[in-house]
Amino acid sequence: MLLCKLCRLAAGIAAIAVVTVATVHATTADGIAAGKSLAMERSKGNCLACHRIEDGVLPGTIGPPLLAMKLRFPEREALKQQICDATIRNPHSRMPPYCRHGILTDEEVELIVDYLYTL
Ligand code: HEC
Repeated sequence: MLLCKLCRLAAGIAAIAVVTVATVHATTADGIAAGKSLAMERSKGNCLACHRIEDGVLPGTIGPPLLAMKLRFPEREALKQQICDATIRNPHSRMPPYCRHGILTDEEVELIVDYLYTL
């Protein structure tokens, strides 16, 4: 009986560990590279259509240049929200609401944020 209680406790701890691993996003060099590709790819972020980004060729000028991101967006959640749905901050935004329109997944936005924080 006691043994079984211990089993259940162990199973519970294992389950919590799995959930934690699944929800915490870790920044890696590969992730930053993937985020850069996602931001640049025309069929994904296509951020260059409107923003100047270092290394980016032929950028548009509809939005402000993306630089000093950590300074200007110290809150990761605020930066994610700007990409996921820019209309929350500006209802008339011309920036596509990437998550709401299913253009980028949550994980893809995390990778783009990893990349933006290197700018
Ligand atoms: C169709 C044009 C367009 C595209 C494409 C676009 N944006 Fe924007 N973005 C804007 C505009 C316009 C603003 C100015 C604020 C607003 O109107 O929401 C903006 C604002 C931002 C801001 C806030 C900047 C600041 O200084 O306040 C960030 C960060 C941002 N965009 C990131 C991105 C990323 C990352 C992508 C690609 C995944 C992207 N944008 C794609 C038009 C665009």
